[in-house]
Amino acid sequence: MSDVCSAHERARTPAGEVPQVEEVVVLDFGGQYSQLIARRVRECGVFSELLPHHVGVEEVRRRRPKGVILSGGPASVYADGAPPLARELLELDVPVLGICYGMQLLTRELGGRVEGAEVGEFGRSQLTVREPGRLLAGTPAEQTCWMSHRDTVFAAPPGFTELAASTASPVAAFESSERAMYGIQFHPEVVHTPYGQQVLTNFLQDVCGCERSWSPASVIDEQIERIRAQVGEGRAICGLSGGVDSSVAALLVHRAIGEKLTCVFVDHGFMRRDEGAQVISAFRDHFHVPLAAVDASERFLARLEGVTEPEEKRKRIGAEFIRVFEEEASRLGRSGGEIGFLVQGTLYSDVIESGGGTGAATIKSHHNVGGLPEDLQFELVEPLRSLFKDEVRAVGAELGLPERLVWRQPFPGPGLAIRIVGGEATRERLETLREADAILQDEIRQAGLYRELWQSFCVLPDIRTVGVQGDARTYGNVIVIRAVTSDDAMTADWARLPYDLLEQIASRMINEIRPVGRVVLDITSKPPGTIEWE
Ligand code: XMP
Repeated sequence: MSDVCSAHERARTPAGEVPQVEEVVVLDFGGQYSQLIARRVRECGVFSELLPHHVGVEEVRRRRPKGVILSGGPASVYADGAPPLARELLELDVPVLGICYGMQLLTRELGGRVEGAEVGEFGRSQLTVREPGRLLAGTPAEQTCWMSHRDTVFAAPPGFTELAASTASPVAAFESSERAMYGIQFHPEVVHTPYGQQVLTNFLQDVCGCERSWSPASVIDEQIERIRAQVGEGRAICGLSGGVDSSVAALLVHRAIGEKLTCVFVDHGFMRRDEGAQVISAFRDHFHVPLAAVDASERFLARLEGVTEPEEKRKRIGAEFIRVFEEEASRLGRSGGEIGFLVQGTLYSDVIESGGGTGAATIKSHHNVGGLPEDLQFELVEPLRSLFKDEVRAVGAELGLPERLVWRQPFPGPGLAIRIVGGEATRERLETLREADAILQDEIRQAGLYRELWQSFCVLPDIRTVGVQGDARTYGNVIVIRAVTSDDAMTADWARLPYDLLEQIASRMINEIRPVGRVVLDITSKPPGTIEWE
């Protein structure tokens, strides 16, 4: 069993009460890849948290880290207001690895020479290793790496060994093993640095002495204990959407407190085909989790009557969802005893976005119908607060969640209603869209592409176009196919689906769904487009 505790709980641990955990802290200086560093460290089997650079040395010390990594960042170390390095951090007696901006901070602080260079070094670069030292041990003398900097280190601090140079960086890596300080100009965390993981492993295992003892699954036992301690004899409720986050959170809490958890699944009528049935069968029939399934589709349809404006749709659906959930919670409370706890599938990325795990708990309630407001008067139980999305999937798989739910593509809370664009979400249109979506999913799964895509779905714009079928004129609906690849939904690229597959999808939609007369493909990336149309 692991001794990991979540970012949230750490933040709440009173000073002096130090959780025993092997951890490496990544200090975020604003780099594009900072989250990725923490994820790569975890992939090496070492728990890692990303904290803002200004967090204060006390916060770092309290975690008793085995190592500290200083991330890259967009600033020049000489710029006004550039994020500084706290000197005390170097006096913690803990190995430090500076990456890019982090290396430049170390250089400046310790008396080396870092200067703005004439030319920047962006993208792939060639690294020549002069002396592998501990950091680059086991990597070839010539290798490629990924760079992204303009300021450049020209001389390592006194007493440091210069390990490598690159095309435009005279000192691309240095170390002082006596002082346990290391720096690399390149980014070991990105896939374009083929030996990056090896360099991180060297730092974590050889320098910091970490063991490979952490895995997402190791969170399970530890979380179960924490949930039991938090909820005690109380009762908890969890809003299930069918998405992987709420499903995994619910399963974990059910393992911990059994029947004292009740899940609520609100079917607002904007789900995809068979979605509700799958959730109900997995939770109620397979896992035997007490589940209240509320069919509220009539209510939601009535609330959307005549509404065509996207924000208005979202608002009405959100408000209605909360109303239904509250009614259900108070009904359950009346029948089985008061419910004091609300289970949420908050992820580590949400925690980072809302202050890096050092601030108070914030619920990501924007953008998500399932995100319930804090004034619901429950204490929150958030067992996934220390995990990234792919780690949550691993926990889900470990808990036996069916593959279909573990790998489900993200689906917006307001569901199909916001995929009927420019018009009202009527029962008929929803049915057409649901059928089209089912064909798309079916074909994409059969082609083995489902997991490769961040999302794949259909949009039904409120227009009709002329066609001809069997010698007769038709005037049918248009279905738009939207399929994107992405890492985090912040940016996305339209997926290059094979032409044959597209043809098969279009032909099935037109043949099998009477109202559909035309099928088109959306080839817009994000930016400038968003993933959803509304
Ligand atoms: P956009 O369309 O902004 O979407 O590029 C980014 C990601 O967020 C999802 N999305 C939502 N999720 N409630 C949600 O729970 C919403 O109202 C909502 N709107 C968009 C979208 O599917 C994509 O994954």
